[in-house]
Amino acid sequence: MLRPASSSHRFSCFSSSLKTASAFVALALFCAAAAQAQVVKTYDFEDGTAQGWQAFVGTAPVNTTAAAYSGTHSILTSTNASAAGGPSIDLTSVLQAGAKYTITGWVRLTPGETATNANFTVKRTDPTCANATCYDNTGPYTVAVSDSGWAQIGGEFDAAATETALTLYAQLVGATGTQSFYLDDVVITQIAPPPGGTPIVAYTFANSSTDGWQPFGPVQLQSTPPPIQDPTGDADALLTTNRMDTWQGPSVDLAGASGLVAGATYQVTGYVLLANADASNPTVTLSLKRTDCAGTTYSNIASSDPTSSPLSNTAWTKVQGTFSFSDMPGAPSSLVLYAQSSSATDSFYLAHVTVNQLTAAPPDPSQQDNSGISSTFEDGGLDGWGSRSGSSVLTNATDTAHSGTHSLLVTNRVANWDGPSISVDNKMYVGSVYNISAWVRLQPTDGSTHTINMSLQTVYQGGKPTFPSITPYPGISVPADGNWHQVSVKNYTMGSNYDPGQASLYLQTVGANGSTDLVSFYVDDFQLNYVTPVSIQTDIPSIYQTYSSDFPVGAAIDSTDLSGAHEKLLTMHFNSITSGNEMKWSSIEPSLGTFNWAPADAEVGEAVCHSIRIRGHNLVWASGSQTPTYAFGDGTNSAANQALVTGYIQEHIRSEVQHFGNKVYAWDVVNEPLDPHQPDCLLHGPFYNVLGPEYLDVAFRAARQYAPNAKLFLNDYSTADSNRLACLVKVVGDLQSRGVPIDGVGHEMHNAINYPSPAAMANAIDTVAKNFPGIDQQVTELDESVYNAGDYSNYGNNVPPAILAEQGWLYKAYFDLFRAKAQEHELGAVTIWGMADDDTWLDSFPVARTDYPLPFDMKLQAKPAYWGIVDPTHLPGAGMTFHLTTAEGTTGHVRLLTITATNGDVGPAYGTQINSLTLTRTSGVACTPKITAGPALPVVLGDIPTSGSASA
Ligand code: XIL
Repeated sequence: MLRPASSSHRFSCFSSSLKTASAFVALALFCAAAAQAQVVKTYDFEDGTAQGWQAFVGTAPVNTTAAAYSGTHSILTSTNASAAGGPSIDLTSVLQAGAKYTITGWVRLTPGETATNANFTVKRTDPTCANATCYDNTGPYTVAVSDSGWAQIGGEFDAAATETALTLYAQLVGATGTQSFYLDDVVITQIAPPPGGTPIVAYTFANSSTDGWQPFGPVQLQSTPPPIQDPTGDADALLTTNRMDTWQGPSVDLAGASGLVAGATYQVTGYVLLANADASNPTVTLSLKRTDCAGTTYSNIASSDPTSSPLSNTAWTKVQGTFSFSDMPGAPSSLVLYAQSSSATDSFYLAHVTVNQLTAAPPDPSQQDNSGISSTFEDGGLDGWGSRSGSSVLTNATDTAHSGTHSLLVTNRVANWDGPSISVDNKMYVGSVYNISAWVRLQPTDGSTHTINMSLQTVYQGGKPTFPSITPYPGISVPADGNWHQVSVKNYTMGSNYDPGQASLYLQTVGANGSTDLVSFYVDDFQLNYVTPVSIQTDIPSIYQTYSSDFPVGAAIDSTDLSGAHEKLLTMHFNSITSGNEMKWSSIEPSLGTFNWAPADAEVGEAVCHSIRIRGHNLVWASGSQTPTYAFGDGTNSAANQALVTGYIQEHIRSEVQHFGNKVYAWDVVNEPLDPHQPDCLLHGPFYNVLGPEYLDVAFRAARQYAPNAKLFLNDYSTADSNRLACLVKVVGDLQSRGVPIDGVGHEMHNAINYPSPAAMANAIDTVAKNFPGIDQQVTELDESVYNAGDYSNYGNNVPPAILAEQGWLYKAYFDLFRAKAQEHELGAVTIWGMADDDTWLDSFPVARTDYPLPFDMKLQAKPAYWGIVDPTHLPGAGMTFHLTTAEGTTGHVRLLTITATNGDVGPAYGTQINSLTLTRTSGVACTPKITAGPALPVVLGDIPTSGSASA
């Protein structure tokens, strides 16, 4: 067994939109990965062998179970004649010349051996060494070792760029005749790749071979000796002739290259020589054409600089750049590297193309040590804490403690930054999230106030240390009042990579206005706790599959839904998406003619890869929300401005719908145009103010012209309100009578918990269907606020379970209605405005507060709302039964009825009441029973616990 890998990191993605020198408009989703340490080899000896280890001098080591640092095996070296020698391993093919490593292992002497010292040494074969051999120590030359415990040997090892062979060995050094020792858990970690990266693939075009390169376009390729030798000294180069367009050139598919992985960063280098002089000073660009399930995208890696490195036919020009790629929304099926030129016709040589890995892909977070740190100081020691300066004094104190009887006292601080520090190496990992807390008590009790700051210190790739603050800078204000105060940060994301051993956490002071504050303080109950990322439930029914024979079920999404647990939730439960914001005018075309496609493209790519349908939302928003002001021209209804704005609408719609093409099956062409307070039922927004009702016609006609296959919707809210419903009917009727193409009506359905009633909603759908037979109807933005309409209160973190249960029953009522309307062919799709309560627009609308409107909770787990949609037998209060008993009353015709409600076993039945009771005589003489006494209806039974009952 081995301890976890030394460091890891997540990476962040960014999108870029590049215009190549060619006819292509290129789009790419790239991920930038920072370098990080990477375990390249481990020897744990658990397989019962020596795993290739041999004797450096003397007798070969043997596998043993007599001792082990971890697991049950190690290797035992028992004799060697000449003292300085031990187990060794050939690392020539494991380590790369020029790279940096740490090499560590654990040593213990066999019982009875006299304590001595040990180290790891590398024998290097290298022409630059005397006799072509050098001996490099890794880490300290002397590490004390004994037979009573394991000691770690080793440290950093920089493999010289000039080495040709490397042999690692462990040796004992000291005056004794000690010879026999165990070695276990050798770990070799690369902390920096060789300059220029780890070679992945190199193309030399030697021996007239094109090395798998293919024509990109109708060009001709030939491997041939160039007129001038390239700087790497290759004999051959790849000549491209017959070029007829800028984008044409030589190409090779990298997708198959072994060692090329998503998330890593690669450097591409090549050399270019023009076949003939070109006075136009052209450039060459290395580009990538990526194809995956979402389609094809183009991006540029690097271009030659026409000023600093102009191309010529007399000297080679180096072209170099970096790229990385992600596996989202799907792994690339091809990743074609090609060279193009700003000259459409120049022939050129390409020589010695290499692809090197600069930084590795992030490792799997499950490989981390997520056990955290807890320091209570109860054992009387320092629990791994040390003085940051070496001058300040740390002592275990018993005169005060936050809990128990011990704490840590820091005195004699020499600077603000000086204080207690603890290693978080292999405890905090980049990209992971932590809750961190310490209790602090200032030693003076003079009532002064001090700022305590908690920070990290990290060193990465041997560079300068960085000091990210964990507490928001400057820190937490702590009064010197003799009390303990908590310095606590929740959900801190570790943002720094670090070299092995190069991460620590410390407490310091920040003096007011840059002053020095050397206050002494106690620390206790330090906690570093890993926050487990959320994961979704996979053993519950899929929402969209539950409704597969009724309608697609969609979700509004944003970029955070394209990876991790959110992406899993999306693809498991939804078969339609709507961009929450990324297809709106201000997102797509923030200034006239400048398009920002990447965020929407990423969402569309995700949908295409998972066969998810896409609603487009929206093209023209009546209120001018999320619409750049240029779209309204000067805002007036002058003839000139009307022409201008008409053109803007048409052009915007053309650009947007043509960009997405048939991937978008339905467009909200006009969003929220209704206003029941206007005689013509239309909102007098900025488009209306310029064009009057005509703006709807312009929008719908443009959408039909440029997206002939898409369903065109008018989308609006509160359509169950009678006045808005009447306006909806009027406006759609007017559009139809003017011959304006409209296919459907979207009911947003941003519901409150008390509004609208499912019956009012049913009426709205029926009314539209009755007035416009055959029109499409969709629920487009369903969510169910936990608040009443017009109520601006805030439950904060404490939403009552009864409300969530009520919301669940409401979702059930709505989805029952949707299913019924689908079966009556009145409703074609349902989209929920979000997925989970961690991300809802209702947290900021109509006021900033915490809302809980969606099927999944803040941690993406199923709520009653979810169960109301997929299986109401899981709703709290489901399975309630009623039982009636009768007893003789005081006179012959009177009976005493007792009704007992027994709740099912799912959860409490909140606010249970009996609203009505009907008695029917089923045999004997006809009569009309009357309830004459007892509690008035409704009979309130209140909250009935799970499996509990209540009677009246
Ligand atoms: C909302 C988005 O969800 C928010 O993120 C944004 O800040 C404002 O717009 N009606 C609509 C949607 O048609 O476009 C709105 O979306 C919600 C109301």
